[in-house]
Amino acid sequence: MAHTSTLLLTLLGVQLVATTFKICAFNIRSFGRAKAANRKVMGALVQVRDSRGSAIQVLLRELNRYDRSHHYSRLESKRLGRGSYKEQNIFVYRTDVVSVIDWHQFEDRDAGNSKAFVRGPFAAHFHSSYTVHHASPREAAHELDLLFGVCNKLMEQWKNQNVMVLGDLNAAGAYIPSNAWAGIRLRSNLAFHWLIGDTEDTTVSHRSCCAYDRIIVHGEELLGAVVPKSAKPFNFTQALGLSEEEALEISDHYPVEVNLRLSPKAQREL
Ligand SMILES: *[C@@H]1O[C@H](CO)[C@@H](O)[C@H](O)[C@H]1NC(C)=O
Repeated sequence: MAHTSTLLLTLLGVQLVATTFKICAFNIRSFGRAKAANRKVMGALVQVRDSRGSAIQVLLRELNRYDRSHHYSRLESKRLGRGSYKEQNIFVYRTDVVSVIDWHQFEDRDAGNSKAFVRGPFAAHFHSSYTVHHASPREAAHELDLLFGVCNKLMEQWKNQNVMVLGDLNAAGAYIPSNAWAGIRLRSNLAFHWLIGDTEDTTVSHRSCCAYDRIIVHGEELLGAVVPKSAKPFNFTQALGLSEEEALEISDHYPVEVNLRLSPKAQREL
């Protein structure tokens, strides 16, 4: 089963020494102890550099060992969902690039609101700031629309128009019937720019071709900081020379990534 994970980012007071950096979201299927014990998979994940799950400690240790020039840390949401099936949103970030200021766990249906998200989005306010959200695939269209409200709330609360939504949104194929698009404000509102197009393929399996994973940008400064054509799925099958079978052991989704370049002017103003 596919899950939806969304990452929202607002740039606030960014004072980066490096002027380009990469942001990436990755839905790692069933990331648990078994996967963490698999050296081949862990080796590949460390090269892909993203993560989720309780095996996160192992991944972080490997990540810090693999890349000694930077230090990676994490921020975890509560474990979301009823019964034994749980999902968790985790930010893995470079401590030399961002620092955590605040975070917010949005309400879900357990709080009694049947119109709310099945799993509440998890928002983190970094020195540049992020939100993560996992949705129910069956409700992809409804939850995509709800994310419009989340973006507006964050823009108001953090007084910043520069927001990025990225990750596995289940925003394609059977999850979004063609007549549902018109009702999705995140799509119909032209202030939101969808950087990963409908015809991209973010799935690992050769049998499917769907743009489930997306990057959506709001705000002129943030849009201006996007390096043209840099938004794309990261095909780790190709990059790591894997077979389809080996790649599927890692995940059924490719991460989506984008490079941002902050001009000296933007660095002063953001
Ligand atoms: C990813 O790369 C593999 C190996 O080169 C290729 O077979 C596959 O079609 C690529 N997938 C996508 C979605 O581009």
